[in-house]
Amino acid sequence: MNRKSVRTAVLISGSGTNLQAFIDQTRDGSLDLDLSVVLSNKPGAAGLQRAREAGIAVECVEHSKFPIREDFDAALIAALDQYDPELIILAGFMRILTSVFIDHFSGRIFNIHPSLLPKYPGLDTHQRAIDAGDDWHGSTVHFATEELDGGPRVIQGRVPVRESDTAETLAARVLAVEHQIYPQAAALYASGRLEYRDGRAWLDGDRLDEPLEFSGALIN
Ligand code: GRF
Repeated sequence: MNRKSVRTAVLISGSGTNLQAFIDQTRDGSLDLDLSVVLSNKPGAAGLQRAREAGIAVECVEHSKFPIREDFDAALIAALDQYDPELIILAGFMRILTSVFIDHFSGRIFNIHPSLLPKYPGLDTHQRAIDAGDDWHGSTVHFATEELDGGPRVIQGRVPVRESDTAETLAARVLAVEHQIYPQAAALYASGRLEYRDGRAWLDGDRLDEPLEFSGALIN
């Protein structure tokens, strides 16, 4: 008997190339998820069009209409709960979420952050890596908690920083890695191998103290 695909909500604010990776991989059968809804805080987000073209339901909750963060989070919950999501994917969702949201979907929210966390939480990560003279940069998928970019790390993808790199060229290489590691993390979760418990990430029942390293090969 076929297991039911995990109902998934993807939250975006912008171009949605990570969303597109999820769409493409569920379509070609390499990722088993039910992409139930895509939600944006910006009505003009290009990612909403990607969702519409893929036939996925879209929701928009404009943060500017909610002066109080907790009220915005409550509106997000109301919009998402119509779809009863089991997994929440933050994919370039540029709002800080409060405990109202985090507690409601506790343990089933992923975020992707374009740095090798714990390095460079927050903004401008690519320029910060260049300015620091780092040899390596990359991206991290982690469980989202109330601490900004601070929840337990699940998987990291690295890219070398080149002498000639600008923030833009480096960002493009990081994005390509993101499109591989984010669906992988979701697949591990959907299969039941990866979970969040006691404030930690667990893989196959073992505590994941260090994130998995993405090396270009699929994690089996
Ligand atoms: C990615 O770099 C991700 O790490 C960050 O926001 C960006 C989203 O890009 N959280 P896209 O909208 O998926 O193209």
